[in-house]
Amino acid sequence: MQSIEVGSTLPRGVFITLEGPDGAGKSSQQRLLVDRLAATGREVVATREPGGTELGERIRGILLETATVRDPIVDALLFNAARRALVDEVIRPALARAAVVVCDRFADSTLAYQGYGAGVPIADLESLADVATAGLRPTRTVLLDLDVDDGLARRRGGPQAELTRFETSDEHDREFHERVRNGFLALAAADPGRWRIVDASGPPDQVAVAVWDAVRDLFEVG
Ligand code: TYD
Repeated sequence: MQSIEVGSTLPRGVFITLEGPDGAGKSSQQRLLVDRLAATGREVVATREPGGTELGERIRGILLETATVRDPIVDALLFNAARRALVDEVIRPALARAAVVVCDRFADSTLAYQGYGAGVPIADLESLADVATAGLRPTRTVLLDLDVDDGLARRRGGPQAELTRFETSDEHDREFHERVRNGFLALAAADPGRWRIVDASGPPDQVAVAVWDAVRDLFEVG
């Protein structure tokens, strides 16, 4: 029963996703955007992938550990299992309450990492995501774009405990991250109505202004 309800709930809220390569500063920008949106008086729900639900956080543990998973198709299935739970338990209900949902990564990350990065056919990944999300698409996706070397340097200069196998293992080398970045740029170019590209190389306050500019039209009346 639940699966039918998930697919048939018409979203009334606004669904914003933040995407981009590792080290682009999505988590800090999410916090800044959520504060700004909350000041408008609307309910704002901040969540992240993988995670955001009990099942999702457990799958996150499996996915981000070093050397647990070696097959990008298994990765894609696990990310989509977590996604299914997040859409069902958190995102659809919030949209039905007319909340604004700001999600740190969503289905486009699977296309970029497992598809463009690791070589799983994009059409297969789109089918999986359609099943997991029951066709739910973000209203707006902000790509925090950053040079690969800058992103990796930022992350490696930060807490080592936060590094995932997508940043440390041999198969996820510089070329992998270059393919991921170019994948995001290709996705954005293919759907300019949904995507906005923000240069994430500047100081956080400056990037936050650009992120707000990328979504503000969704909250302007008339
Ligand atoms: P996380 O610690 O959340 O990194 P970030 O702060 O950069 O989002 O780890 C998520 C990692 O998982 C990140 O390297 C991207 C990767 N990932 C995929 O490979 N596919 C996906 O579908 C998602 C959602 C994330």
